[in-house]
Amino acid sequence: MTYTETIHKIPQVMPWIGSEEAEAVFATIEENWITEGSRSKELSDQLNQRMKAPYGVFAPNGTLALYLGLMALGIGAGDEVLVPDCTFIGSANAVLMTGATPVFVEVNRYNFQIDVTKAAHLITERSRAIMPVHLFGMVANMYEVMAFASQHNLKVIEDAAQAMGVHYQGQHAGTFGDVGCFSFFADKTITMGEGGYVVCNDPEVYERLMLLRNQGRWDRGSFIHPAIGFNFRITDMQAALGLVQLSKLDTIIERKLKILDWYYERLADVAEVNFLAVESGSEFVPFRAALICDRAHELMAFLTSQNVQCRTFFYPLHKQPCFESLGQEQGGILDLSDAAYPNAMYGYDRGVSLPIFPTLTEIQVDYLCDRIREFYRSK
Ligand SMILES: Cc1ncc(COP(=O)(O)O)c(C=O)c1O
Repeated sequence: MTYTETIHKIPQVMPWIGSEEAEAVFATIEENWITEGSRSKELSDQLNQRMKAPYGVFAPNGTLALYLGLMALGIGAGDEVLVPDCTFIGSANAVLMTGATPVFVEVNRYNFQIDVTKAAHLITERSRAIMPVHLFGMVANMYEVMAFASQHNLKVIEDAAQAMGVHYQGQHAGTFGDVGCFSFFADKTITMGEGGYVVCNDPEVYERLMLLRNQGRWDRGSFIHPAIGFNFRITDMQAALGLVQLSKLDTIIERKLKILDWYYERLADVAEVNFLAVESGSEFVPFRAALICDRAHELMAFLTSQNVQCRTFFYPLHKQPCFESLGQEQGGILDLSDAAYPNAMYGYDRGVSLPIFPTLTEIQVDYLCDRIREFYRSK
């Protein structure tokens, strides 16, 4: 069989779930304990242990994990939170949910993470926090972010939605700041379908997280609520799935790195295609195969016509139609023109996200890379 016969459609993402996950979920149903319970506790313990995080709590998804984390840090109306211009909109929406305002920071050009050297002019008396986003399975330079935060007295909330299993100088992404937030959506490194997680070091922050997620009390069974809180629980069906996924995390990482090598090898001599640079001293667990390409949008249209599902990099937040009014709210300090964010624009204009899910085969990567070569040869 030739490889073209094996390719129907290569999707952008594909969770690696199967009979083991199905059996684990089925077992929770058989035991008749489906809401948050012992499996959630077990998964939380394992996640904390793996990340060396003293405390962690679940949230229904990554966006609500960020919201919970921000709320636990006391962020609210009238505050400003620095957010990179190149990220998923959920990062900024979580800030808006608290009543605070996201302020967009330019990103660097080598891996599109937040660039704090371009953030000083955005600091005002309302600045309260900074949200580095560890994008593409790489880390932001947390050494620089933490120094900047301490200089400007900012809380640090790490958006590590895409960074499960990623370390910077030996420390897990998400454990540097005041809180770190993860997502277990279906395209994430490990998934529970939907789900989120918040880690922290400080017992007082942990207490606030616990109360906020559980209707203002420590546990169920009491109707006395010392604080205001909400319901951010998950289910043990999700946790059962998550436990199996976590047991596969090392294999998933190994597999993704292998696939990345295939991409590196097969595209090494294609001058029009460049890979992002990894922050020195950090690990890389590729979330997508993120490339910077000549004529990126044309290439994506071609690959789409060849049954390969592609994605652009994130549409810069400063350009989002729904955020148009934010510039004015900032009293003129926030310049929402493209000229203020040349690197985020460059990423959007030239960035291509290719699939790198664990079950992607070598033959599919061959096919995909051959199509890329064909595109550049023919034009
Ligand atoms: C960088 C980033 N932040 C936040 C989120 C939000 O996570 P969720 O989709 O679980 O709400 C995502 C997920 O897509 C993400 O990629």
